[in-house]
Amino acid sequence: MKVLVFDNKRAGSLYAAQIIADKVIINNSVNEDTVLGLATGSTPTDMYRALIEINKNDVSFSRVITYNLDEYYPMKKSASHSYHYYMYDIFFQHVDIHEENIFIPNGELKNNELNEFCKEYELSIKRNGGIDIQVLGLGLNGHIGFNEPGVSQNSVTRKVALSDTTREAAAKYFEGKEKVPYEAVSMGIKTILDAEHIVLMAWGNEKAEIVKKSIEGRISEDVPSTFLQEHENVTIILDSESASLLNRSRVSLIESKLS
Ligand code: GLP
Repeated sequence: MKVLVFDNKRAGSLYAAQIIADKVIINNSVNEDTVLGLATGSTPTDMYRALIEINKNDVSFSRVITYNLDEYYPMKKSASHSYHYYMYDIFFQHVDIHEENIFIPNGELKNNELNEFCKEYELSIKRNGGIDIQVLGLGLNGHIGFNEPGVSQNSVTRKVALSDTTREAAAKYFEGKEKVPYEAVSMGIKTILDAEHIVLMAWGNEKAEIVKKSIEGRISEDVPSTFLQEHENVTIILDSESASLLNRSRVSLIESKLS
């Protein structure tokens, strides 16, 4: 794992955006698509802002194809809490991406339609050549996407139950925990680990403990993010707060960007 520590969220987000931009620039130059796996939550917002600027400065996203990690279930696309709404509001409506290249798990389907949808989601990623860069945030319990503790390493896109901790953390966006859905549709751990490059960001003291467990802890389904240790191309982007508990001598590759 490559662990990079920045002064603050903004600097780290710019770096993450540049990783994506570099890939898009290379692929655009040889007329190839770039396939991105995208995350929601408060973590990637500055990265999206930076990508919007990069897009304005002539890096076209017309050959970018995106697959979002997850969506609440049930959830109307138009609801302000939906990840659909978030993605269009924060990112998609500000860049030149083509509508038909945007894929987000559908929280509007009936229960008996979900299986087929999830299978097709996985196939669609494969048909487009797999994910080049998967962006991740990190849940307080180590979830990535909505893959909660106990998840299998072989899991793929499916309906999942949300843990109490996750519903608690989401309560602030839903005017109370009782309004937070109990389920979601999420890519699996296998879907994530199949990506060529994984970029995980985490900011603030609140994430320091789970960052430490994710990077230095034993690989276990109890902390889903520890599965990332098995992937050969992971970049972890932190600020000084989220990195504060890391045992630097034990992490093989820490490149400090702290000034
Ligand atoms: C949410 C999302 C994740 C996200 C995580 C962290 O529940 N499903 O994809 O990475 O929790 O959220 P935040 O970035 O707001 O801390």
